[in-house]
Amino acid sequence: MRKWKGRLIALGVTLAVLVPLAYLWATSLVPNDYSAMEMGYADYGGGPSAAGHQHHGGKSVADLTGPRTGKPDVAVTLTARKQKFTLASGEAFDGFTLNGTSPGPLIRAKQGDLVEVTLVNESVPEGATLHWHGIDVPNAEDGVAGVTQDAVPVGGKHVYRFKADVAGTYWYHSHQVSSEEVRGGLFGTIVIGGAEEEEDVIAAIHTYDGKRTINGRTGSSRMDVAPGKKIRVRVINTDNTIIRTGLIGAQYKVIAVDGRDLTGPTPVTAAFPLAAGARVDLEVVVPASGVLRLDAGTATLDLGAGDAPAAKLPDETVDLLTYGTPAPLGLDPAKADRRFEYRIGRRPGFLDGVPGLWWTINGKKFPDVPMYMVAEGDVVVMTISNSSGQAHPMHLHGHHAVVLSRNGVAASGTPWWIDTLEVGDKETYEIAFVADNPGVWMDHCHNLPHASEGLMTHLGYEGVSTPYRVGGEHGNEPE
Ligand code: C2O
Ligand code: CU
Repeated sequence: MRKWKGRLIALGVTLAVLVPLAYLWATSLVPNDYSAMEMGYADYGGGPSAAGHQHHGGKSVADLTGPRTGKPDVAVTLTARKQKFTLASGEAFDGFTLNGTSPGPLIRAKQGDLVEVTLVNESVPEGATLHWHGIDVPNAEDGVAGVTQDAVPVGGKHVYRFKADVAGTYWYHSHQVSSEEVRGGLFGTIVIGGAEEEEDVIAAIHTYDGKRTINGRTGSSRMDVAPGKKIRVRVINTDNTIIRTGLIGAQYKVIAVDGRDLTGPTPVTAAFPLAAGARVDLEVVVPASGVLRLDAGTATLDLGAGDAPAAKLPDETVDLLTYGTPAPLGLDPAKADRRFEYRIGRRPGFLDGVPGLWWTINGKKFPDVPMYMVAEGDVVVMTISNSSGQAHPMHLHGHHAVVLSRNGVAASGTPWWIDTLEVGDKETYEIAFVADNPGVWMDHCHNLPHASEGLMTHLGYEGVSTPYRVGGEHGNEPE
């Protein structure tokens, strides 16, 4: 009798633990096939919600294309392959290429050009897309599998067409299984040149198999640049975490960030903290005496001739909150139509049936996260805060946002426009943007494994919906 009672109690306790666990497990399952429109819940940020669920009808993302007619000024075909290849510096790597190389070809356009890129997938088994990171293209050209298109299967192709509107430094990468494909090399750089002809140097930083590279070269590489010449060094972080970078051997100016010029840049020697996915343009005159070093940790790029400087990057870092001089923002955050919170946290639980410590947005786990809803023309203020224990480089597609404050301290320098913003643990940033590009846009962490672990949601426009689905027959998996 005693024994039975004991067993019954044990069984009861077990069930008391298992049943809620089973419930949590079952409710965490992400359907095999779903639409971004059905994910989570709509957050209207204090603005009107239009006619209730109007965001399910109206315009289709598929119709929000770039110019479909007209002769392109720049036309490129990029063929994606999964293959063994050698880095520019000679090491073998098993990953992904575009036209046989990684990084893929540099695409150069001029402001105002019509760009046409044809992606051909020769052998990437899970499919591929191209996302134009930092270029605020029309939504249908954004290259997000399951949101703005279907992943391009092996044997398939997809044509992207968009106007190169804003001069600057950008990059492109697959947005299908991006956490694996980008790390594996499926990316390249794209530069939109301004009216003025200028000499520039591209430095795309990427880590292959734990080996940090600049333009596919490990260790220390060199490029010839005439001494006394003023150059623009375009540094691109294609990795998943922040990189302390900067030039050693001369003072430089930080003249642009994320494809947007800064105002009143002053000469510095401090390091620049370059968020994952972000870009920085450094203006410098190559010293007459010799060489300049771009430092990216274990990889460096020497510009010019002569002996490389032995010095290390200084401990100080450039802080764009105070760097440069103010200028009009072109929007009034005090008159915001919507105010959103993007609170990043972390808690134990199940994600798609897998137990773990998972990221949360406003306390919710993927896919029960908020979808931020706006109407075209809205001024939007978003407060991004992070108490998750790790830093997150947050990337909003299709828009540039301006930083208003950090931890309650108002920005006092140059207008600081970003498409990718490092939000450190225990930091809070207030940003603002104009909702001027209708569509359904990803808004996620660019530490891509974090996005695949659920740190991603969308910005939606009233009256716009996507016909594409995540999962399903095309196996769309944007993260
Ligand atoms: Cu560079 Cu959503 O990506
Ligand atoms: Cu993250």
